[in-house]
Amino acid sequence: MAKAIIFSQFGGPDVLQLTEVPEPHAGPGEVRVRVHAVGINPLESQIRVGAMEAVFPTTFPSVPGLELAGVVNEVGEGVTTLAVGDEVLGWGAGSYAELVVTGAEQLALKPAAINWEEAAALPVAGETAARGLDALHVVSGETVLIHGASGAVGSVAVQLAVARGATVIGTASAANQEYVRGLGATPVVYGEGLVERVRAVASSGIDAALDAAGYDAIEPSIELTGGTERVATIADAPGSAQFGVPFLAGAATPPASSLGEALGLIEARALRLTVAQTFPFAQAADAQTASVEGHLPGKLVLVL
Ligand SMILES: NC(=O)c1ccc[n+]([C@@H]2O[C@H](COP(=O)([O-])OP(=O)(O)OC[C@H]3O[C@@H](n4cnc5c(N)ncnc54)[C@H](OP(=O)(O)O)[C@@H]3O)[C@@H](O)[C@H]2O)c1
Repeated sequence: MAKAIIFSQFGGPDVLQLTEVPEPHAGPGEVRVRVHAVGINPLESQIRVGAMEAVFPTTFPSVPGLELAGVVNEVGEGVTTLAVGDEVLGWGAGSYAELVVTGAEQLALKPAAINWEEAAALPVAGETAARGLDALHVVSGETVLIHGASGAVGSVAVQLAVARGATVIGTASAANQEYVRGLGATPVVYGEGLVERVRAVASSGIDAALDAAGYDAIEPSIELTGGTERVATIADAPGSAQFGVPFLAGAATPPASSLGEALGLIEARALRLTVAQTFPFAQAADAQTASVEGHLPGKLVLVL
């Protein structure tokens, strides 16, 4: 048997229960990972309350989670890229568990430069940030506005954009301004008057804007970039439909090759993962509560 967090009905964080489930085994093309750390995502709380059934239907009992870091401890038929004992990070459906079976393709070797918590903070944030900047075709010399620059995705997006040679302006709460500056962006406080505050620090204007927060960021972004062409959101589906800008939906378990840029920057010491808070595995409910409350810079991580 192996430990897992399950929920068997929709509801508040207290529906999450620590339990024992039968040990899973790796099928063809899969490996089994002994999980050391799990990244927490806002989506998991939305799924838990039943708000995402149209997109991610739930079968009870359900194990939450998308991403993990740990050690390969079983290798399925046909897997040649990973071996037992490899330290990995990546995607695994139902990652709030001691043992997770996932596709070998969904995992990358963990860089030695980062610890388990930092490794678990990378997959979703790293892939989403790169996908967002790619969709906006951000290139060297441009100025990009990143909404939610203090968040898990935004923190990585700022650093990837800086590494691509862009000047970055990042929105965050007043409490997280210095954190955003430390990532390499010029921080501005979100909320009313945002357009004026951004204009005051963007001497050559804004070329592109990525909404990685989801709070009324699209309209000011259109105003600042002068159109809808170089505005995109990962977090505001209604706003995307209302204003005609792309909503960048991701795959549930993308290939780990999507992390190439981020992993290269980690090796070059040009990308830092911020773990805002860690929680013991048994306190997954507290971790999701903190995720819903928000405002902590970087990522929340469960440790096993
Ligand atoms: N489409 C996709 O593929 C995809 C992938 C990953 C995540 N997402 C979504 O993207 C969003 C961000 O994810 P995350 O993991 O980075 O979340 P997160 O770590 O909780 O970050 C949330 C960000 O929103 C900011 N924020 C909070 N309240 C705000 C307000 N009232 N006005 C403006 N900004 C505000 C926060 O700033 P402060 O902390 O400074 O207040 C923080 O920068 C979530 O909605 C998530 O579900 C989408």
